[in-house]
Amino acid sequence: MRSTLSALCHSLLILLSLLSQTAVAEGKRFDGVEIVVGVIDGTAIGGPAEAHAVSWQKRTGGRVRVERIPYLELFKQQMASIAGDSPHFDVLLHASGWTADFFPYLSELPEALANDESFDDIHSTYRDRLMTWDGTWIAVTVDGDLFSGYYRKDLFQDSNNQSAFRERYGYDLGPPDTWLEYRDMAEFFTGMEGPDGMPIYGTTEAFARSGQQIWNFYSRASAYTNHPKFPGAQFFDPDTMGVQIDNPGWLRAAEEYADILQFTPPGSLEYGIIDVREAFIQGRAAMALDWGDIGQMANDPVKSKVRDNVGYFLLPGSREVWNGREWQWEEAGMPHKAPFLAFGGWVASVPKNSRNQEAAWDYIMWYANPENSLHDVVTPGTGINPYRLSHFAQIDAWTEVFSRTSAAEYLGVIQQSISSPYVALDMRLPGQSQYTGVLERALAPLFTGEGKAKDLLEAAAAEWEVITDNLGRERQLAIYRASMGLTGPPARPRPGGAIGKQRIKIGFSQATTTEPWRLLFNKELRREAAKYPEIELLVRDGQDWVEKQRDDVKEFIAAGVDAILISPKEAAPLTPVVSEAFNAGIPVFVLDRDLSNSRYTQFIGGDNLEIGRAAGRYAVKLLGGDGVASGNLVEIWGGMGSTPAWERHRGFHEIVDQESGIRLLTPPRDGDWKQDNAYEIMVDALEKHKNIDLVYSHNDPMAYGAYLAAVDAGREKKISFLGIDGIPAEGVRWVAKGILTATFLYKTPGDEAIRQALRFVKGSPVPRRFTLPTETIDSSNAADILQRAGIQ
Ligand code: FRU
Repeated sequence: MRSTLSALCHSLLILLSLLSQTAVAEGKRFDGVEIVVGVIDGTAIGGPAEAHAVSWQKRTGGRVRVERIPYLELFKQQMASIAGDSPHFDVLLHASGWTADFFPYLSELPEALANDESFDDIHSTYRDRLMTWDGTWIAVTVDGDLFSGYYRKDLFQDSNNQSAFRERYGYDLGPPDTWLEYRDMAEFFTGMEGPDGMPIYGTTEAFARSGQQIWNFYSRASAYTNHPKFPGAQFFDPDTMGVQIDNPGWLRAAEEYADILQFTPPGSLEYGIIDVREAFIQGRAAMALDWGDIGQMANDPVKSKVRDNVGYFLLPGSREVWNGREWQWEEAGMPHKAPFLAFGGWVASVPKNSRNQEAAWDYIMWYANPENSLHDVVTPGTGINPYRLSHFAQIDAWTEVFSRTSAAEYLGVIQQSISSPYVALDMRLPGQSQYTGVLERALAPLFTGEGKAKDLLEAAAAEWEVITDNLGRERQLAIYRASMGLTGPPARPRPGGAIGKQRIKIGFSQATTTEPWRLLFNKELRREAAKYPEIELLVRDGQDWVEKQRDDVKEFIAAGVDAILISPKEAAPLTPVVSEAFNAGIPVFVLDRDLSNSRYTQFIGGDNLEIGRAAGRYAVKLLGGDGVASGNLVEIWGGMGSTPAWERHRGFHEIVDQESGIRLLTPPRDGDWKQDNAYEIMVDALEKHKNIDLVYSHNDPMAYGAYLAAVDAGREKKISFLGIDGIPAEGVRWVAKGILTATFLYKTPGDEAIRQALRFVKGSPVPRRFTLPTETIDSSNAADILQRAGIQ
């Protein structure tokens, strides 16, 4: 009896619940509500947006207008709608990389939805890192995205291939663990004949600009530049916002990316990701790099020629990882893999200015619910890759396309990638498209062999710095940290370290004291320091020797100084020790010559690029004027390991190279800023070239050395000499005497350095760069300057 009663109650409950579901199904909830969805115009992502709109309408009574927009327009239109006066979209299906730009305009996900159990089913890498911004949930992932590798099992497991590979490379053929192995394997298979008698290439990757090229590059750099002890540092230094794309890790990634081109199918420079997929499923390549979509396609029984032979691997890693904090390569015992969430997937958000937020969120949750998304991830062409735990668990759902084994392997690699503690996030920053655009443009000559990775990346890095400055460095830094999930303030010395101290210890490491310019620099610095009785000044001379200078800085660190001033002889060898000081919490002021990274408090010096340009304009004028200038030129370089030499070179050529009549006679040769070196270089040039019209020297002492060589050859009257520095006792006097035609003031930074360091340790922030003024000095003003300086 009892059981009958309970059975009755049970049936009643079921009936009631069915009734209530029907009420929803009749569409009462959003009757009369219309929402507008802005989405990309492809079948990928856009297709599911339409399909789920149809079912959502039936279920809720609401109406959905799906507007499909070309990718290159999408950001602009969505931004205009959410930030402008005329709101248009209720649902934004957008790249997760745009979140930083959109964030201020997005509504927060309603709490009830965040509490829904379908939420916990989203993999935490997406849920906690890509759906939130600064701790708030503002988006829902509707597509998982990461790069991984694909390979041909038939080729890799062939016993002849295996023994030939072992013989040639000394280890076993198998899914590559490192980028070096990946390269070996790509090389090995290139030129072989496939089972169909057609040639095979080692691998296929996208190289076309705006054809997803950038993600191949980022995926490589990920392994080299995501050091476990310095998380979030792939693109920018998360403490200083210094650009990283020209660090040695990125350099290596760029060189290897360009190098792999020779092992890819002909025409790969034009390959977008669609071509990559086609090449792989047609059996033209032994490996491929791609998002998850290629897995679907390669297993397609109709379209794929390699269906039964597809294997998967995590993005390769590296045994050496660049540590951007210590500024050095470090060995990893095991290959370090940092699977890269390329693009980061599509997410859906609701703008604050939507009038139908409730309906909009409901549509999103419907789009991405476990059932609908499972259908999408297993269906080729939806563009949707797995991101829910249930997608990975329900292997049977995948067997319409994949074999069971293949599905398990495919999902295994994706799950392992996103679950890795070193999974690396893509850039999500205002200006993201500007940054990537610059980089793609810069890379182009690398693939055609017209440019060197180092030069190209350095130029791109300089442009990235400008973008960062334009968007606001500190603001970008805060956003970058948030985007990488870093909490707390950046780790760098704070102002005010010496507040309350009786004595302020300042260590000054000078590069050399051989030139009068350095002596003046030291004199001014000491004189300024002497004005403050609390300053205890330690001065060390590197004696033109980077090793000595490195030891000098180490001595300062050990002495626990309150600030370090350094004018580094060369950038690369001195960067690690300065980073060490900075990491130890000591404010560092870099003077005149810059370092290779941004781990210091402030740079003080002249604008060498601008000085180079000024010299260039002067040279053009001397040689006949804009558009008609003509003449033969000798350039005498300063120390090639120092930044002023390169900037003076670049600035000068920016101007002079526009004149087809000006010819540079000599190849670059390091003059190390010294008069006697310049003398030798000029003797050589005079011997080789009968007609020299102008000498451009990176400093005055070398201009003078070149002049002396010309005097000895009896040719000084026919040649104009331009120098840089313009200190009264040297350059200005030489100009006044008619030895140099002109020089450009390169102000000594000593006194300013003391003032800036003192300000900072006493508690006031200082700007990242403090630029000293310059001035052109020629016969028009040299005498005046000498008179003012009290020099005859
Ligand atoms: C002195 C010097 C100057 C030059 C500067 C560049 O050592 O060579 O003549 O302008 O260094 O860093």
